[in-house]
Amino acid sequence: MKLFLDSANRKEIEKYLATGLVDGVTTNPSLLSAQGQNTKEVILDILRMVPGDVSIEVVEKAPDAVYTQAHQIAKLGDNAVVKIPFAFEYLPVIAKLVGDGVKLNITLVFNLLQALMVAKLGVTYISPFIGRLDDIGADGMVLIEDLVTLKDQYDFPVEILAASIRHVMHWERAALLGADVATVPPAIIEAACKHPLTESGIKKFDEDWKKLGKQNLLD
Ligand code: G3P
Repeated sequence: MKLFLDSANRKEIEKYLATGLVDGVTTNPSLLSAQGQNTKEVILDILRMVPGDVSIEVVEKAPDAVYTQAHQIAKLGDNAVVKIPFAFEYLPVIAKLVGDGVKLNITLVFNLLQALMVAKLGVTYISPFIGRLDDIGADGMVLIEDLVTLKDQYDFPVEILAASIRHVMHWERAALLGADVATVPPAIIEAACKHPLTESGIKKFDEDWKKLGKQNLLD
């Protein structure tokens, strides 16, 4: 399973890239807006820093403007993936961009048929938002499960990118269900690394080792 970092913060991205685990990055207008006014510089830096795919979302609204902006984003780097929110009026734009060879990540996907439509159009990634479905009392994991079934049933060459991951269980379940990618916020990766038994185990080994009073292990 690929791991993408859900962040537009360059310091965070640098920190997590160093773990060797990060295959790509997803940004969105909310994450970019939190980084201040110099959006283009932030985007270009992230594209340079990250060896894998970086999703950058269009902010234009009219279909023609979305099409133009998608090409502008795609030109920023070989690893630039254009994120477009699902909307009926964007379907022709999506079809055209796929035909132009632009890598797309269709975001804000909340049901199976939205996913089916864009999978048929040949997009690269589909982003179902797990946490936001849970927020309205639905079960986001069921959508991941259904998308994996759909993808396998029809052999769609799309990658299911589990997004809006709010806690460790979302990531764990997405992995077990066979999502291709999870885009995970830094705090969730940090939480996943922690276990009280790991911490108490390290403490105990340390205490026992110190009882021996030796400085070096291999002396
Ligand atoms: O990957 C999408 C993500 O950034 C949205 O997460 O927590 O705002 O629903 P959230």
